[in-house]
Amino acid sequence: MTQGNPSTPSPSQIRKDDHIELCHRGNVTLSGDRGLWSDVSLIHNALPELKLSDISLETEAWSALKLKAPLMLTGMTGGTEKAAMINRGLAQVCEALGIPFGLGSQRIMSQDPSLTDTFKVKEFAPKLNLVSNLGINQARDLGVDAVRALCDAVESDALAIHLNPAMEFIQPGSDADRDFSGGINILHDLVETLERPVIVKECGCGLSEKVVSRLANAGVKFVDVSGVGGTSWVKLEAQRALNMKEYSREARLGLLLADWGIPTAAAVMLAAPYPVKVIASGGISNALEASKALVLGADIVGMARPALQVFLDAYEAQGEDHAITATIEALDEIIYGIRAITALHGVKHVRHLKHQEKVISGRLRDWAKL
Ligand SMILES: Cc1cc2nc3c(=O)[nH]c(=O)nc-3n(C[C@H](O)[C@H](O)[C@H](O)COP(=O)(O)O)c2cc1C
Repeated sequence: MTQGNPSTPSPSQIRKDDHIELCHRGNVTLSGDRGLWSDVSLIHNALPELKLSDISLETEAWSALKLKAPLMLTGMTGGTEKAAMINRGLAQVCEALGIPFGLGSQRIMSQDPSLTDTFKVKEFAPKLNLVSNLGINQARDLGVDAVRALCDAVESDALAIHLNPAMEFIQPGSDADRDFSGGINILHDLVETLERPVIVKECGCGLSEKVVSRLANAGVKFVDVSGVGGTSWVKLEAQRALNMKEYSREARLGLLLADWGIPTAAAVMLAAPYPVKVIASGGISNALEASKALVLGADIVGMARPALQVFLDAYEAQGEDHAITATIEALDEIIYGIRAITALHGVKHVRHLKHQEKVISGRLRDWAKL
């Protein structure tokens, strides 16, 4: 496997491994219920009149490949030896569960094609529903043909374009993005000409209703709201700056804006009425939060850091095979919970959770009035 020169990692490779380490062991979330899940109460049906085994979790996504459950792992990594191991392992997890797997940003691969193998997972998981990943700025600068080549190189089934202006404004180092102009045009071009479904995602700061509306007008059919409540990339980048002893204006702003953005539950609720499939992500780590997201109108639930932590803990304890098994078990537990909570609504198909009554209280109710 080609992975650049392992003895002299590039600044981008160091950043990728920093991200993995900080997400595994660092303090990169916020305390309390920032996703506002406790402001959603589901309504128990004591007379469901069905068998648990009658419940169908099959979900349509962006290709003919139906998902076995409304769950996916969203984009995380690539570009280093450790990232390659994670991609390889989590791809096998997702293939086994019949759910999509997102690669991390392929920017590093566009800058150094020798790193392509760290993203190539189809040889380990040939039936996987694989999602490529690139930042909106890189897509704008590369153009549609080069983006298509990046997708082709890893044989992906869809492309996720990430929007992360807050994180980039905090990120230390010279390759942080400061110019986010011209984004909507490239999204429109990609939707029209890429010949692959395009998912537009945030990275933990959430998509507002206005942004979802603009994306829908540009022809985007899939959005991943990735709201506040889970991994805070603003906090993470501030911490990296502090670790690098750069107590800069960026680091200070990052600490100030650690919870900048739209809580995940609010983002899901506000996106649901638009003609897009909604992926709910940002701090979803259990079946109850996942089911609440589905009741609020999500089509699919996405997870990143919670799955990575299970995988890396198990990897460190007993190696790669154990990490795959442990992560399958952890996600399977969430899937079982979604199945049970669907049954506790008295409906046979998980997609019918969307139309169920719920009680919205507290701050989430304030967001609903927007
Ligand atoms: C280690 C790690 C690396 C990530 N890298 C990317 C990335 O390259 N591209 C992207 O779109 N999102 C990236 N994300 C963001 C996730 O896809 C997700 O939107 C965000 O972390 C919120 O989900 P979570 O709270 O479940 O972690 C990364 C997440 C993690 C944990």
